[in-house]
Amino acid sequence: PTRRSSDLPIILDVDMGVDDALAIMLALQSPEVELLGISTVFGNVPLNQATRNALQVLELMGRDEIPVYVGAGEPLVRKLVHAAAVHGESGLGDAVLPDPEMLPAGNALDFLIEGIQARPGEVIVVATGPLTNLALVEKKQPGILDQARRVLVMGGALAEAGNITPVSEFNSFADPHAFHQLIKAETNMSLIPLDVTHQLGLAAETIAARLAGRDDAIARFIRESTRTVIAFEQEHYNYAGVHLHDPAAVALGIDSSLFEMETLVLDVETMGELTTGQVVVDRRPFSDEEERQGYPVDCAMKVDVDRLMHMFEHRVLGGE
Ligand code: RIB
Ligand code: CA
Repeated sequence: PTRRSSDLPIILDVDMGVDDALAIMLALQSPEVELLGISTVFGNVPLNQATRNALQVLELMGRDEIPVYVGAGEPLVRKLVHAAAVHGESGLGDAVLPDPEMLPAGNALDFLIEGIQARPGEVIVVATGPLTNLALVEKKQPGILDQARRVLVMGGALAEAGNITPVSEFNSFADPHAFHQLIKAETNMSLIPLDVTHQLGLAAETIAARLAGRDDAIARFIRESTRTVIAFEQEHYNYAGVHLHDPAAVALGIDSSLFEMETLVLDVETMGELTTGQVVVDRRPFSDEEERQGYPVDCAMKVDVDRLMHMFEHRVLGGE
């Protein structure tokens, strides 16, 4: 079914791990959202696999009218990293979906630029992978991201420990130069860091209970795709569940009252021996803000866990 224009036209820029798939599902299951298209980037898995996963998830959801565009296959400067240990070889855990029938619709950079320009001040860009596509878009057309209504980025760890190195979150580690370019461009970006997404645990038992009795393709996909992440989290963090990192960024686009935001002056380390990808917040209490090192960025500091989890469970898992 074709959707009417809504108040919330969204472009999702994804690297297609398990929680990226859950973020797409949340967008599709939200009546307020008009998903204009999906752009893919390397990250959790190589670019081709990310694109394939996005096509498969759209077909699973019966939404093959939504176009998928292919973005960057490697970071701007540093070497490629992936995250097969967390998301499984395919990026979608144990889930096996049919080969996609859809084909990618074109190039992600052109799509992002044209999509934003077509509706100035309206489009919300939600980025849930390395920031390479957005940095390239801003380089190709400086100022373009300021024509978006918001740019919501899942990335970075502020005070929280990292999840790929002791101090770095995966998306910021995977292409710190791109992230730096974006921060420096001072676009209307908001950051949803690990500090808040780590509070959004979806327990394995909740998934099982909500999907109990269902054996349709979507229920099977949710069960099977989350299994690898749950096993990883159980083994490494003694937590049997999935964190809703990427769905949190979509949720902020849908309902900003779910989060408390604060502007912090920050930058990201691009060259550290131990600290590449670390977000460095300048908390020095200078009276003149200009003295601080970094750039002002709107950051999610608190989340209403109950309301967000309720929204996700109700819309994506269904059941009671
Ligand atoms: O650090 C969390 C991010 O990296 C999310 O985008 C998730 O998909 C992960 O791999
Ligand atoms: Ca992701």
